[in-house]
Amino acid sequence: MLYHLARKALFQLDPEKAHELTFRQLHRLNNSPFKCLLRQSIATKPVQCMGLSFKNPLGLAAGLDKDGECIDAFGAMGFGFIEVGTVTPRPQLGNDKPRLFRLPEAEGLINRMGFNNKGVDNLVENVKKARYGGIIGINIGKNKDTPVEQGKDDYLICMDKVYSHAGYIAINISSPNTPGLRTLQYGDALDDLLNGIKVKQLELQLKYQKYVPVAVKVAPDLTEEEIIQVTDSLVRHNIDGVIATNTTLDRDLVQGLNHCNEAGGLSGRPVQLKSTEVIRILSRELNGKLPIIGVGGIDSLTAAREKIEAGASLIQIYSGFIYHGPKLIKDIVNHI
Ligand SMILES: Cc1cc2nc3c(=O)[nH]c(=O)nc-3n(C[C@H](O)[C@H](O)[C@H](O)COP(=O)(O)O)c2cc1C
Repeated sequence: MLYHLARKALFQLDPEKAHELTFRQLHRLNNSPFKCLLRQSIATKPVQCMGLSFKNPLGLAAGLDKDGECIDAFGAMGFGFIEVGTVTPRPQLGNDKPRLFRLPEAEGLINRMGFNNKGVDNLVENVKKARYGGIIGINIGKNKDTPVEQGKDDYLICMDKVYSHAGYIAINISSPNTPGLRTLQYGDALDDLLNGIKVKQLELQLKYQKYVPVAVKVAPDLTEEEIIQVTDSLVRHNIDGVIATNTTLDRDLVQGLNHCNEAGGLSGRPVQLKSTEVIRILSRELNGKLPIIGVGGIDSLTAAREKIEAGASLIQIYSGFIYHGPKLIKDIVNHI
């Protein structure tokens, strides 16, 4: 009810302004005597995945809390895990504004944020301060001005810095808003990246005496053949999990809607079926060899169940959370 009213007011504002205002209020509320207002009673539904124990299978997807500024507030709402980032080695502003658009008729969003973030060091400080007891995933990427041929170095720099603070590390090679990034999903570039990441992970395991799983996040725009090649590479390099999917470049399902031709990645209900199909193919090809974290258009208990039936062990939400608020967490977790 409260979110319904808040949403009405927030949706009158420019989407990015609404985001900033919400973050300021969440931060304020979480540091006030009224922080209990954020808390929801959520059933415990433990899931074991990638060698970790999750309180429940529903997480916050990457990109909403890029700098880890509101981890405790989102934790209080009942998420079983929170993925912060994408962060890059150095802070960067991201693309010019406006860069975030609502497509309310389709419950979709188009964004071309371009990894706006305050850098990995700032994120680590925020993660250290968080009191949230669930799993925190840290999603890492490359700076825009790092040539894609040297992109691996950025991932390795971030791994060094986040390793001892992360529940798991997510490797984002599927954002459509950093030129060239998605080329890292293919062939030798993917093999070279995963090889470097695995060597770094084992080196850091020895250093910290702790194994932190690594999951790779893929796009919904891969063909079946490309998905098969990705799974082959993930298995060969002993990667611990795959996150499917990021946003899509496809506009078929939003033709004619306001903002439909804005450049960027489309998320929310219009990506739901596409992402479920990628999960289904991954699940068939992986045959249980590594777990899938399903994300893309989850806007209801039914949509959450579809992702799990397609083969996901864990699920995440972003756009559905913007359109439905914290009640969606309760609806999904309490009944799944
Ligand atoms: C505004 C916005 C920013 C995003 N930023 C990131 C990001 O920084 N890193 C990332 O891996 N995914 C990012 N995503 C993708 C989401 O994590 C998710 O994979 C995608 O939106 C599909 O889920 P949804 O339909 O529930 O939103 C972003 C999505 C949106 C809408």
